[in-house]
Amino acid sequence: MIYTQNNPTSYKRIAHSFSKYANGYDAWASVQKTFNEKLLDWAKLHIKALPSPLMDWGCGTGDLSEKLIRDFKTEAVTLSDISAEMVEVARSKISKITQNAEFKVCDAMAYDEWDNFRTVCSGLALQWVTEPYLLLKKIHQTRKPGDVILMSWFNEDCFPEWKNACIRNGIPFTGHSMPNPDFFHALALEEDALSFDLRHESFKIPVTYPTVRGFFKSMKNIGAGLGNGNQMSFSEYRKLESELQNEQGCQITWVADFVLITYS
Ligand SMILES: C[S@@+](CC[C@H](N)C(=O)[O-])C[C@H]1O[C@@H](n2cnc3c(N)ncnc32)[C@H](O)[C@@H]1O
Repeated sequence: MIYTQNNPTSYKRIAHSFSKYANGYDAWASVQKTFNEKLLDWAKLHIKALPSPLMDWGCGTGDLSEKLIRDFKTEAVTLSDISAEMVEVARSKISKITQNAEFKVCDAMAYDEWDNFRTVCSGLALQWVTEPYLLLKKIHQTRKPGDVILMSWFNEDCFPEWKNACIRNGIPFTGHSMPNPDFFHALALEEDALSFDLRHESFKIPVTYPTVRGFFKSMKNIGAGLGNGNQMSFSEYRKLESELQNEQGCQITWVADFVLITYS
């Protein structure tokens, strides 16, 4: 099994892309907001409280933190993101609902103060880091009894319609690479593993976009338009469009992993 992903996109390009679209993110991120809502509904089935202080890394505009404060009455929250503009949008929203929030601009891969937080949360950001498994392992190794990790991320089962159309027609798939749905189970095999309970579920949201162009535009307008380095020619794009588009529009399925780890 491959545990590492080695995303080819540099963190500077990722930060730049998310920063550029930070102000419009909330208007375009309906899929992300629906997944955040689902993550908390799912978490509430398994856990009553999230211990403070809590870190929401890859916070974007603060949508997950806003919902965490609403549903879990979380007290001390730190929001961090690699994009300074995302953090500023989050600050303006979250400062209105709590005085007990801190904000940081940092690359989660380079951050090393996870042990200051009893709960580490993240919504749909792990697929952007260069080494998802190493990051999860690093956070895992700082956990103490009673601590929690609650995260979601898009996995490599995302966009089956787009991927299958590429395979059928010999078109390069240009989407950003996503982690394998099972990669994090390797945590349990680590020699230094703590005692923990790991819950995992994958959730799908099929979305019908009016057009194929509309789908790509919606990705771009949240800052997530960066691909895997492959290029499509114009004729390949037109072929893809004709394959994905039908009278109803263009159906694209998003798939996210939800993981809740509680330590004892
Ligand atoms: C799809 S957005 C999700 C935002 C928010 N959590 C939500 O659910 O709406 C992904 C976020 O991850 C951030 N991000 C990407 N790579 C990161 C890294 N290495 N460290 C911290 N944040 C990162 C991006 O800047 C972006 O704001």
